[in-house]
Amino acid sequence: MAQRKTAAVILAAGKGTRMKSALPKVMHPLAGRPMIKHLLAAVDAAKLDRAVIVIGPEMDSVAEAVAPVSSAVQRDRLGTGHAVLCAKDALAGFAGDVLVLYGDTPLLTPETLGRVMQARSDGAAVVVLGFEPVDPAAYGRLVLDSQGGLDAIVEYKDATPQQRAIRLCNSGVMAADARLLFDLLSKVRNDNSKGEYYLTDVVALARGKGLPCAVVRAPEEELLGVNSRGEQAVAEAVIQTRLRHRAMDNGATLIDPSSVFFSVDTELGQDVTIGPNVVFGPGVTVADGVEIRAFCHIEGAKIGRGAIVGPFARLRPGAVLQNDVHIGNFVEVKATLVESGAKANHLTYLGDARVGAGANVGAGTITCNYDGFLKSLTDIGAGAFIGSNSALVAPVKIGDGAIIGAGSVITEDVPADALAAARGEMRVVPGWAKPYRERKKAEKAARKKRS
Ligand code: UD1
Ligand code: MG
Repeated sequence: MAQRKTAAVILAAGKGTRMKSALPKVMHPLAGRPMIKHLLAAVDAAKLDRAVIVIGPEMDSVAEAVAPVSSAVQRDRLGTGHAVLCAKDALAGFAGDVLVLYGDTPLLTPETLGRVMQARSDGAAVVVLGFEPVDPAAYGRLVLDSQGGLDAIVEYKDATPQQRAIRLCNSGVMAADARLLFDLLSKVRNDNSKGEYYLTDVVALARGKGLPCAVVRAPEEELLGVNSRGEQAVAEAVIQTRLRHRAMDNGATLIDPSSVFFSVDTELGQDVTIGPNVVFGPGVTVADGVEIRAFCHIEGAKIGRGAIVGPFARLRPGAVLQNDVHIGNFVEVKATLVESGAKANHLTYLGDARVGAGANVGAGTITCNYDGFLKSLTDIGAGAFIGSNSALVAPVKIGDGAIIGAGSVITEDVPADALAAARGEMRVVPGWAKPYRERKKAEKAARKKRS
């Protein structure tokens, strides 16, 4: 039999007032990626066929962020059941299962989604993902029958004291055949304590038709909902723990895992060593054998095999380090290609530049890439040597093998293998210092006497 198709319906129309933010809740990032995209990644990894995000009015930014995944607008927030119904038109003509997810539970894993879909294939008409939180708080409670099947979901506000004593709670994740689900939802009423159309009512309606319903369980950690900045921080910690383990499982050494922060898209090769307090923003690729020393901040950068970065280095978007490059302490690199074996080990800014293979950029070198209006390029040839404390005023080209004298301000191109020194001539006056000191001492004594 052909595999049943499954469409995710992700509910995200809630205002997220507790975030106290101008940004829709599901656009808040975790590990450098909006929450909603975490969920879409899980949906993708679980090989679902399509997805529809249900958003509120004025959430165009969410629709844009998820495109080409389609979105449906829920104009009035009448409850979770109503929200799912809002996706009906977007799924017109779709035959298969619907998997309902909440946009604010970004930690769900594809494995768990797979288990929910499996339970559907195993014959339950409605499958609900349940969990046993340490504090069941106001979650909906899952009422089981004597065989362990699911009888009903009771919202906390509507539950009896006995039902409130149940520890098994509703995560919100639910799977059912699309036609059955929309049919049941059309029968859901809002005569409950919240006056809302509850998605959860479809379980009792399915049972009323004699259809079997089942519960799949998952650990609480995966079902953590993000409603506040505090919960966002807890979710971030969970994701960082996962990413640290992934890095180590793939062959990286993290000297102090708890102080290394990854983005979901950080790519690390094998035998990469990462020191304490290193932060990876989005878009970083690190090849095999790289050493990243303590206190580096890296985003949008590509680091080649065998390179050494840090301590205290900053790599910004467009930094590309080829093999065996050394970028040392207090060096900032932006939109710059540093070719094989080149070094900039101390106190340097390289922006909008190319540093040729094997070049040596001395301490305190600055590429002056910005004139207050426009950015310009600096091109440093292979094997060039830039003396310490030089300012390279872009646009400027330093030829292969050229040497720049320390302290130079370079405003014109320097040919290959030339020496360029642009600074005041040095003057040495023999014996000048001693009489100077004598004179000053006498001056000071005379002043003291007068006062
Ligand atoms: C819901 C469940 C409850 C479960 C809990 C888990 C119902 C009736 N209750 O309760 O059993 O234990 O989640 O967290 O389903 N949303 C919309 N449109 C709406 C209402 C909600 O898009 O009209 C979205 C929200 O953005 C959110 C999700 O649905 O992503 C859940 O809504 P929420 O109001 O948090 O439901 P709970 O009352 O927590
Ligand atoms: Mg909730």
